[in-house]
Formats: sequence, structure tokens, C-alpha cells
Amino acid sequence: MFSSVKVVLLLMSGLLIACCSKTPSSSSSSQWYGFGTPLTEKNIAAWDIDVGPDGVGLPVGSGTAKRGEPVYLAKCAACHGDFGEGMGRFPALVGDHASLTSDRPNKTVGSYWPYATTLFDYINRAMPFGNAQSLTPDEVYGVTAYILAMNDIIKEDTVLNAETLPKVKMPNRDGFVMAQGTDIKADACMHDCEVKVKVVSRASKNRVTSTTKE
Ligand code: HEC
Repeated sequence: MFSSVKVVLLLMSGLLIACCSKTPSSSSSSQWYGFGTPLTEKNIAAWDIDVGPDGVGLPVGSGTAKRGEPVYLAKCAACHGDFGEGMGRFPALVGDHASLTSDRPNKTVGSYWPYATTLFDYINRAMPFGNAQSLTPDEVYGVTAYILAMNDIIKEDTVLNAETLPKVKMPNRDGFVMAQGTDIKADACMHDCEVKVKVVSRASKNRVTSTTKE
């Protein structure tokens, strides 16, 4: 009986060696599972297109409103209007900053967006709607410049590139404040806790919720 157990154990250790000698480090995961292909630098670069508020990630290239105008008229105006006013239910890209404090704020690129670099990032990844990522970096710099010029934020001949775009100051840049996060920082009370609750503020007072009825 003991010898048969020994045989089984021997067999098992043999199997273990057979299975584990082929470690993932000695062969790629594609060989290991028999499917998938390793990602190339080019594959990763195609996904890695995000542009930060500070301009990190902006590609090489440049554009002006003048150069962007024909691209905008051919590829964007059908939905966003010749003057960025928005056609039908498609969003306007030009809007008055003054409306932000009204009951019906017109939140557009020009009136609301805090960073010009976000405009490049958004167009580069998502526009033209239905044919995203079909524009060259120069075309994206161009239409970005054209939209900023329509909003009177830059001049027609201002050259936008990886260096100049992050320096463009949007009108509503200082209209954003960091969340205070007092609820996150609060210490949890575990014993002898204060049972009386004092309401110190209301969402409606902080203007984070609507007070008017439709
Ligand atoms: C077929 C219609 C269509 C075309 C063409 C089109 N867009 Fe858009 N665009 C949209 C729609 C729809 C949205 C809103 C998408 C959403 O909210 O998810 C949008 C949103 C945007 C926004 C964000 C607006 C905001 O305030 O949220 C920008 C900027 C923009 N488009 C720029 C462009 C540019 C530049 C082009 C041309 C290269 C273009 N679009 C072409 C339909 C279009």
C-alpha cells in the first residue's frame, strides 16, 4: 500500500515539474494560453492620446484660426453652425460668459470650459461626431484655434502648438473651485458621541441644487 502511495506521489511531482517548468517569465503569455498578441509600442500609442490641462500629451504640430476655418466649415459647421451657434439640438461652441450667473447658463466652450487644452483633447478624441480621430494634429490645432477665435479668446493669426496652447487663459478659468471635502476628512466617532446634530449649511444655500421649480 505504501509503495503505491509513493508511486502516486512520484507521478504527481513529475507532473508538477512538467507543468511548472514552463513559467510565464520563460515564455510570453500568448504562448502560455495560446491566444492574444503582444501589444506593440504603436498599439499603445494609438490609445495613449490624452492631453492634460497643463498640455502634457499635446502632439507636435500647429494651427491658426485662419488655417482651421476651412476644416471647421467642411467638417464641423453642419452640426455646430457656421458661427459655432449650434444647429438644432447639436451643442453651441460659442456663448456668452455673462449667462453663467443667470438662471439659464449657456455653458459652452467659450463661456464655461476652464482649459483650452481640454478643447484640443476633446476634438482630437471625439470629433467630428461619427468620424472621430480622422483629423491630423495640424487640423485639430486649426479648428481649436478657430473656435477660440470665434469666442474672442485668441486672435485670428495666433499660432497654437504644444507650447502656446496651455498658455491660453479661458475666461472661466477662475470660476472653478476645488471641492472642500469636509465629509471625507471627518473623523468617525466610535463612543461618547454628540447626539445633537446642528445643521450648519444646506445644499440650496451653497447653490449646488436648484431652488426654483420648472
Ligand atoms: C454630425 C454632427 C457633428 C459634427 C459633424 C461635429 N460635431 Fe462636435 N458635437 C456633436 C455632438 C452630438 C456633440 C455632443 C456630444 C456629447 O455630448 O456626447 C458634440 C460636441 C462637441 C464639442 C463639445 C461641446 C460641449 O460644450 O460639450 C466640441 C468642442 C465639438 N463638438 C467640436 C467639434 C469640431 C471641432 C468638429 C469638426 C472637426 C465637430 N465637433 C463636428 C456633433 C457633431
